[in-house]
Amino acid sequence: MTRRYGRDSGLVRAVDEVDLDVPAGQALAIMGPSGCGKSTLLHLLGGLQRPTGGQVWLADRRIDTMSEWASARLRRDSLGFVFQSFHLMDELTAMENVELAALLAGQPPRRARQRALHLLERVGLADRAAHLPSALSGGQRQRVAIARALCNEPLVVLADEPTGNLDSAATLDVLRLFEELHTAGQTLVVVTHDPRIAAVADRVISMRDGAFADDRQVVGAATGTVYGRRR
Ligand SMILES: Nc1ncnc2c1ncn2[C@@H]1O[C@H](COP(=O)(O)OP(=O)(O)O)[C@@H](O)[C@H]1O
Ligand SMILES: [Mg+2]
Repeated sequence: MTRRYGRDSGLVRAVDEVDLDVPAGQALAIMGPSGCGKSTLLHLLGGLQRPTGGQVWLADRRIDTMSEWASARLRRDSLGFVFQSFHLMDELTAMENVELAALLAGQPPRRARQRALHLLERVGLADRAAHLPSALSGGQRQRVAIARALCNEPLVVLADEPTGNLDSAATLDVLRLFEELHTAGQTLVVVTHDPRIAAVADRVISMRDGAFADDRQVVGAATGTVYGRRR
């Protein structure tokens, strides 16, 4: 797939004819210098942006030609997003932030509440459920955001520099959490500058100028496909 911006002398090949298959259960790290196209690639995978060339297939469905409405529904029901700056609702508690996402994904209120509590326990924040984001540390906020990303049991969690705003201890907490999710079989695509993520990932792609400069499989026994067409 390809994503270009601008034209003529202003043409930027943000993602330049890359081919990517992601097997189910893989923890894929995407690394590379600022501006090499990592976020653009993640946006293409998440249906947040459309490629200017090529196709994006997620779980046997072509997602780059979907209507805006279908794409939004896909994100709500089947994808989990984690961003560097958390994107929590400041006026909602940790619990309500997660619960709201579960409600939006169509779960009945009682079930949404149970699910939110369960997920906060899973990320180690059950005792912070009633706190507003402003009363949480950066690492705790990111763990709430991860709990929120999990509330629809996503096919894949897409994370863009999830530890970029965190100190070293909080970064380790988040990495450990990703490791647990990976062990539990969650498919992960994590854009990161942190080389420690390599300890969690079973595949590391290094990008340079919109292309894959290196694609290193650390381990991997594919059992199905999340991204890519089944052949
Ligand atoms: N909306 C946009 N319009 C024009 N150029 C863009 C836009 N978004 C990103 N780019 C360019 O595309 C390239 C890749 O950007 P990005 O995917 O954000 O890189 P990274 O996440 O690796 O830092 C950069 O050269 C950036 O300036
Ligand atoms: Mg980026």
